[in-house]
Amino acid sequence: MTHNYDWLNTERTTLEQAGLRRYLRTVMSAPTGTINLDGRDVVLLGSNNYLGLSTHPEVIAAAVEATRTFGTGASGSRLISGNSELYTTLEANLAKTKHTEAALVFSSGYAANTSIIPVLASDGDLILSDALNHASIIDGCRLSRATRKVYRHCDVEHLKTLLSEAAAFRRKLIVTDGVFSMDGDIAPLPDIYGAATQYDAMLLVDDAHGFGVLGKDGSGTVAHFGLEGTDIIRMGTLSKAVGALGGYIAGSRALVELLINKARGFIFSTGLPPATLAAANTALDVIHSSPELRQRLFSHAKCLKTALTNLGYTLLPTKTQILPVVLGSPQQATSIADALLAEGVFAPAIRPPAVPPGTSRLRLTLMATHTETEIQQAIAGFAAVLPKFHP
Ligand SMILES: Cc1ncc(COP(=O)(O)O)c(C=O)c1O
Repeated sequence: MTHNYDWLNTERTTLEQAGLRRYLRTVMSAPTGTINLDGRDVVLLGSNNYLGLSTHPEVIAAAVEATRTFGTGASGSRLISGNSELYTTLEANLAKTKHTEAALVFSSGYAANTSIIPVLASDGDLILSDALNHASIIDGCRLSRATRKVYRHCDVEHLKTLLSEAAAFRRKLIVTDGVFSMDGDIAPLPDIYGAATQYDAMLLVDDAHGFGVLGKDGSGTVAHFGLEGTDIIRMGTLSKAVGALGGYIAGSRALVELLINKARGFIFSTGLPPATLAAANTALDVIHSSPELRQRLFSHAKCLKTALTNLGYTLLPTKTQILPVVLGSPQQATSIADALLAEGVFAPAIRPPAVPPGTSRLRLTLMATHTETEIQQAIAGFAAVLPKFHP
């Protein structure tokens, strides 16, 4: 007898009825300010290619050259035959950028988080995690078998209370996003680091959305707060402002050595394609040498935020390139996203479990490569849908 798979359809219907069914759209062009989506040109307000580096000519040239030299795939895990010299160059560049002794690249940011957290904490340890941390952190915590406690979003007093009750644990790990992916706000790292120091805890910062964007050299949230010389463990991704793919951990040489030996997502996965490594390495150089990209990104963000606020939209109080317009139910978020798409603006709806129930939203993101005309087109789209869906 074969299994009856009808439950798959039942589950899908349940998601549909809750407004939580997800659909794949097809992008038929590169992630620039205007993309071809399912055959139509629309202004893109939903990309993490914040600096436009995935289409930067030098980055593309590096990727092409690496493919010619090294081929298309790594062909093995890094501990077997997949550790191309491109990794050595990229990891040295990352460590320099992040002001740490060493760095280690993983196949994605998701793999980096789900790999490092179980190495840092396990049975007998305590993990303290911000309530709005990214799903990859949550999954890393679940895999770790450590005790987990969630502190209120960016609430350092709550964090300290939990730390003060944690004397019985062997090791303590605090983990937080640097820039919160769905809210766009910045974690109060100096206070969190102060609490970590006071209670002898490790601090891991996921800077997926701060890297390339914050800090005067673009090196991220830790630099934004002038905490470069500390022992904060930096995690991040090469898939957003860097415009490529992959995750990284930057920290002490001893930490990297241990990860090479124990991080399961590192050990049991094939290395990244050479093109990706070379693209990321060149993108880091562009990040160092092009502060004007960050300035342009922030100027766009300010312009869109001001215009939408003047129209009457309520945005979360963010100071970054991530502008959340919280709407409430999944249905509200998807209906306004659909109306915007009809106006030629692609502003994806974000629903649970990516955000807490009741806070479904549009998550608007800017890119340095948006043109002024595209920003104005986006504002016109929001103006057109406003009468229909006043938030
Ligand atoms: C805060 C945060 N951490 C980690 C990740 C995972 O990174 P990647 O997409 O490289 O797997 C993301 C991606 O959305 C993220 O937003």
